[in-house]
Amino acid sequence: MAVKSLGYLALQVKDKKEFETLACEVLGMQKVTGPSVGAENDYYRIDQRAHRLIVMPGKEDRLYCAGWQVADSATLRNVQEKLSAKGVDWVALDDSACAVRGVDQGIGFLDPSGNRHEVCVGEFKADDPFVSPAGVSRFITGDMGMGHVVLPAPNFEETFEFCREVLGFSLSDELPVPMGADGPVLRVRFLHCANPRHHSLAIFEGEHPAGCVHWMLEVPDVDTVGLAMERAEKANMPLFSTLGRHTNDNMLSVYFMSPGAIGVEYGCDGLRMDWTGWEPKILESGDLWGHQYAMMKDL
Ligand SMILES: [Fe+2]
Repeated sequence: MAVKSLGYLALQVKDKKEFETLACEVLGMQKVTGPSVGAENDYYRIDQRAHRLIVMPGKEDRLYCAGWQVADSATLRNVQEKLSAKGVDWVALDDSACAVRGVDQGIGFLDPSGNRHEVCVGEFKADDPFVSPAGVSRFITGDMGMGHVVLPAPNFEETFEFCREVLGFSLSDELPVPMGADGPVLRVRFLHCANPRHHSLAIFEGEHPAGCVHWMLEVPDVDTVGLAMERAEKANMPLFSTLGRHTNDNMLSVYFMSPGAIGVEYGCDGLRMDWTGWEPKILESGDLWGHQYAMMKDL
């Protein structure tokens, strides 16, 4: 397996101040001073890593990239060789780009659906403890990484094979999603890497104008989820989805809305999987209960 975990995400947003309200007041992320080379960006912490979310000023609201951690330089070189063998262009991150991401070295490239991925080695750590401005005790990260991200993949099978071959992801399971009564059935494939999180990446067989369907942060318990829902209501933040529990990773979660109509899943109770002898299956339903998606109501 190549990828260890989701290390970081980088978003481009039109209004960084508006995003800060969501990140700090609702989600409870800690805004921190980042590297001097990337002073135009905002940086957010959720654990002992220097930062996990990079928010760049942009002309549009969209995901810039997903940053994947690998164990060492040899693994990174292996990824580079696989990309070159497939004829996929990649660029090395220079010193400034590495500082912005809080990594020692890394590369960037596009998958067959045009999503930008970065693969990196090393992670900068903070000296002081994580302190949430909203009183969140901690986020569930560690060996399971930052959380997960769901990317649009209209070029579905090719993107799936790319994520398997180049990044080393494996299939956890697949969910067919009917797009309304008369619409097509589009698939979501949930993919795991070298850690017990049920999925660090999922690909959706459709388009998304902002380059990301949702990203997910995990917190320790249902009270932390409920308190965030109250803070969102007080801040007049719309929900992307109501509370519910997923069938595959058991996550009890709500979805907030981040710029670009990208969902932010915020949940607890995610399973720690043992992948020994795992047989992927096609799911009949994505939810045990709940999760009424605002975006899907009109479909
Ligand atoms: Fe999710």
